[in-house]
Amino acid sequence: MSENKDQNNKKLTTAAGAPVPDYQNSITAGPRGPMLLQDVWFLEKMAHFDRELIPERRMHAKGSGAHGTFTVTNDITKYSKAKIFSEVGKKTDMFARFSTVAGERGAADAERDIRGFALRFYTEEGNWDLVGNNTPVFFLRDPLLFPDLNHAVKRDPRTNMRSANNNWDFWSSLPEALHQVTVVMSDRGIPKSFRNMHGFGSHTFSMINEENERVWVKFHMRSQQGIENLTDAEAEELVGVDRETHQRDLYENIEKDNFPKWKMYIQVMTEEEANNMPYNPFDLTKVWYKKDFPLIEVGEFELNRNPDNYFAEVEQAAFTPANVVPGISFSPDKMLQGRLFSYGDAQRYRLGVNHHQIPVNQPKNNVNSYHRDGAMRVDGNQGSKLHYGPNSYGEWQDQPEYKEPALAVNGDADRWNFREDDDNYFEQPGKLFNLMNEDQQQVLFENTARNMRGVEKFIQIRHINNCYQADPAYGEGVAKALGISMSEVEAASDKE
Ligand code: HEM
Repeated sequence: MSENKDQNNKKLTTAAGAPVPDYQNSITAGPRGPMLLQDVWFLEKMAHFDRELIPERRMHAKGSGAHGTFTVTNDITKYSKAKIFSEVGKKTDMFARFSTVAGERGAADAERDIRGFALRFYTEEGNWDLVGNNTPVFFLRDPLLFPDLNHAVKRDPRTNMRSANNNWDFWSSLPEALHQVTVVMSDRGIPKSFRNMHGFGSHTFSMINEENERVWVKFHMRSQQGIENLTDAEAEELVGVDRETHQRDLYENIEKDNFPKWKMYIQVMTEEEANNMPYNPFDLTKVWYKKDFPLIEVGEFELNRNPDNYFAEVEQAAFTPANVVPGISFSPDKMLQGRLFSYGDAQRYRLGVNHHQIPVNQPKNNVNSYHRDGAMRVDGNQGSKLHYGPNSYGEWQDQPEYKEPALAVNGDADRWNFREDDDNYFEQPGKLFNLMNEDQQQVLFENTARNMRGVEKFIQIRHINNCYQADPAYGEGVAKALGISMSEVEAASDKE
């Protein structure tokens, strides 16, 4: 079906382009009689309606999107040859989608949760997707546990309700999750809007320059609107009157030409520095300290155009960390490695194998490939061009100039226990706790206690123990807010 391009032609048609004589009355045998199967317009309309829903994203299902422009403000060509960064002042079209994580497509926006922060840059060398969050760290170190994280935070199989018990049983069993849990329970756990939060690439990525030299980088996006957050009480009140506060805020500000902006920065670590780090620089549960690896400005982006159609542009957007361009690449972070498979795989199921052809997912440059056929192939399928390689006719040629520098790896293949590699789970959450002033610490204790309502005591005690190891005052504060005495915590720990 081709869409009507003639704005003056308002005549209704079927999907096959035939005129629809009557939109409101189905065909019946007599004015009060049963319907006739030959009412093909009714059949088409109902059949289409019956298929309007596609699966929602397994997580990050509720989200808002907008188009925008990225502008380079600082020369980082010594780190990356990516054309998007090639000169100061250069502009690149982009698309962003922000989301909550655990709620379904109809969930309220103002919930205590991580926020997704997904950016797509339509560069002349292909799409670069930076699929980050509003937090610099994550709960896990091994992607094998990701499905469990989602089961634990989503609905219980029996009650079909979200379960604080499942949630905290899982989180508190993973001491490496404490850093992320502390961020989510802190006063930053419910951003006031998508405009009022920072974004992070979170993982360690790599950059490669014209000399084919590699450095490790982390990406930071800092809100120019400033950080603003909601308390639990404010959020509760808001959700009672409006479940779409983030969507409304983003949409309305863009409509008013009050375009939100973020500055992009990188932290850079050389391969040599990485080899000498006191902790694993590819561990997603840890940050790199800014005093050791200061922020280097890269550019700025603004979101300046709302989608015309939410389903077409936001629901069908398919971001994946696998979308990188020459000059920006992956790292040994095994969480990132796991994600490189999961997104495209989920999207082949959610949207279909040819989801790259959906306009919001199409790169702006030429796509030459041997991929053919598959459901919903709508782009002419490369016509009569050869569909095998190698061939003797020059279609298509490798681009060896884009080969990355070799990465030295070694070691025996095994299921290595990351906890044996590094059991320092508590230093960074302890430091984060100590960056908070007393009021913020109190808010952290109370948010945690409210969130743990109804959770079995042994799980509460396990979490208190984790907090205590980060800082005794953290453990004691959470214990007090939960109404549990430290002697009870000690007694329970002695029994273990
Ligand atoms: C969405 C998997 C960790 C950020 C998704 C989706 C999958 C997924 C399957 C749905 C994709 C779709 O249907 O389009 C995973 C796995 C992870 C992981 C297996 C770990 C092993 C992370 C981390 C971050 C992140 C660490 C951030 C640093 C996002 C965002 C979205 C998303 C922002 C929504 C993208 C959008 O707006 O369309 N994830 N994820 N995920 N994930 Fe992850």
